[in-house]
Amino acid sequence: MEKRQELYAGKAKSVFATDDPDHLVLHFRDDTSAFDGERMESLARKGTVNNRFNAFIMGKLQEAGIPTHFDGLLSDTESLVKKLEMIPVECVVRNIAAGGLVKRLGVEEGRELTPPTFELFLKNDALHDPMINESLAETFGWATPDQLREMKVLTFKVNEVLKTLFAEGGLLLVDYKLEFGLFKGEIVLGDEFSPDGCRLWDAATREKLDKDRFRQGLGGVIEAYEEVGRRIGVDFS
Ligand code: C5P
Repeated sequence: MEKRQELYAGKAKSVFATDDPDHLVLHFRDDTSAFDGERMESLARKGTVNNRFNAFIMGKLQEAGIPTHFDGLLSDTESLVKKLEMIPVECVVRNIAAGGLVKRLGVEEGRELTPPTFELFLKNDALHDPMINESLAETFGWATPDQLREMKVLTFKVNEVLKTLFAEGGLLLVDYKLEFGLFKGEIVLGDEFSPDGCRLWDAATREKLDKDRFRQGLGGVIEAYEEVGRRIGVDFS
């Protein structure tokens, strides 16, 4: 597989074409952003840590029968993925109240959510990823009702797999965001799963071990990501 031109540079990853029209290279950079890119910082080792972390999680999800775009690690900071036609809708599941939910509804941080909640957001930086619903997604053609149903089923299936995986490492999966796309007509999990896009707390102390450390200026961001990885068996060597 030959890496070709850069197609797109996001806030933390860049996407490159390959000589195969069905595959892309994802390059995980050290860049870290918060508040819609208002705060940007480069954190040493982040690209490598998130690349390895994501590879490990995608492998676990694939083993559990969840289709993902991940095809393999290429280097410390690069992975080979299937080229998806992305659906511009972010799916968020929450097991415990935190972040946007606490702000929006005034509920107490840390409250267990039974059953877990499911929310949809439009992927649109200029509009700050507004919350949407199935009706809006259908009307504006962002996703079909069938696609939305499938995305919801897969997002909850991910919850079952990952809640258990993190629990075995003494961690609470508080919430997470997933993005999906189409590959040859099939709904496939895209983007990444890393502590950049989820919340993880130590189960005993409720210490935050995810990107909230960056958002809230708590320090030790990458050390926390590595700690989480070590606890669930990610190989960072
Ligand atoms: O900010 P909020 O509480 O709505 O985020 C819910 C979850 O989705 C968090 O784990 C957050 O890291 C993730 N998220 C994300 N990218 C976004 C919005 C949310 O990774 N654009």
